[in-house]
Amino acid sequence: MAPKRIVVDVLKGETVFPPPIWMMRQAGRYLPEYRQSRVDAGGFLDLCYNPDFAVEVTLQPIRRFGFDASILFSDILVVPHALGRDLRFEEGRGPLMTPIKAEEVSQLDPGAFHVNLEAVYETVRRLRRELPEETTLLGFCGAPWTVATYMIAGHGTPDQAPARLFAYSHPEEMRALLQLLAEKSAEYLIRQIEAGADAVQIFDSWSGVLDEATFELCCVQPVAEIVRRVRAVYPDTPIIGFPKGAGSLYDTYRAKTGVTALGLDWSVPWGQARKLQSEGAVQGNLDPMRLVAGGRALDEGVEAILGELGNGPLVFNLGHGITPQTPIPHVARMVELVRKA
Ligand code: CP3
Repeated sequence: MAPKRIVVDVLKGETVFPPPIWMMRQAGRYLPEYRQSRVDAGGFLDLCYNPDFAVEVTLQPIRRFGFDASILFSDILVVPHALGRDLRFEEGRGPLMTPIKAEEVSQLDPGAFHVNLEAVYETVRRLRRELPEETTLLGFCGAPWTVATYMIAGHGTPDQAPARLFAYSHPEEMRALLQLLAEKSAEYLIRQIEAGADAVQIFDSWSGVLDEATFELCCVQPVAEIVRRVRAVYPDTPIIGFPKGAGSLYDTYRAKTGVTALGLDWSVPWGQARKLQSEGAVQGNLDPMRLVAGGRALDEGVEAILGELGNGPLVFNLGHGITPQTPIPHVARMVELVRKA
């Protein structure tokens, strides 16, 4: 018999209370053992590409908190890296890439894509063997638009102005870039599922900076393409879409991409969140700053989510990644509050 993994059941629409819980960026700098592994590995990308280290840091938050889901340790930018773009992570500066020019889009080389990502697939295979039976293993990729924003600017920006300008100035090249990223990301997710991922999440962290027409073109269509391709091979594997900051466009995103479940950020009002939940599972959406603050801010935030969304299919999570300054006891408190609800 297949092992019971409640995150998978909830993503498919079952209501479970108290809800299962995991955290975006649960393997990260708020944990001293993660910081140690990063030093031991030699750097962030060495963590991602060495299965011994990647497995170790993926398991660290599971050992500490017993989360119901474990997310593969990697980064969304290994996809452009595997297409031949350079990538560095500098302490305190985040990712750095050489900005791609419009005329370079057609030169992206997918030839060695899966060979370059073999370490990630090996990490997934090992994780499925080493995780507790009942722990859901999540694979992931970045949404094409969000990945493209880093490829175009070469680094993080507050509003993704360089990528928006690129979309308007070079619409053909933008379309080609998003199409290639959608095809390769779909293959990437399919390989992760093949290797043992129970569900996958598509991170679209920068979908909130676009006008309606560009959101449709750059976010909705490429994600719909990924969903279509993954479903054609694995029709039963849940796909979580997380269009952070999409606001009122969350509704059209859910309807048009066909994702199984929707990741909500903390700015989504309860009325809208419940309406979205009536159409399928939701995941989220505690403000990570409530987790940093702790005390009443944390308790009230957790209670509100459980009260407003606990009657339907909910995977408890943050509304975005946990930040490095988060005190570990606050994480333990959040888990305890959810589990004893
Ligand atoms: O959630 C997890 O525990 C799994 C691992 C994971 C990482 N990045 C590890 C990471 C996942 C799912 C991501 C996704 C990711 N990466 C996104 C989408 C989600 C989001 O947070 O918006 C984005 C935009 C990236 C690109 C990226 N990687 C940025 C902008 C940064 C710098 C910001 C930061 O937190 O330092 C990274 C680095 C990164 N990716 C870290 C981790 C643990 C910190 C790197 C370090 O150890 O110094």
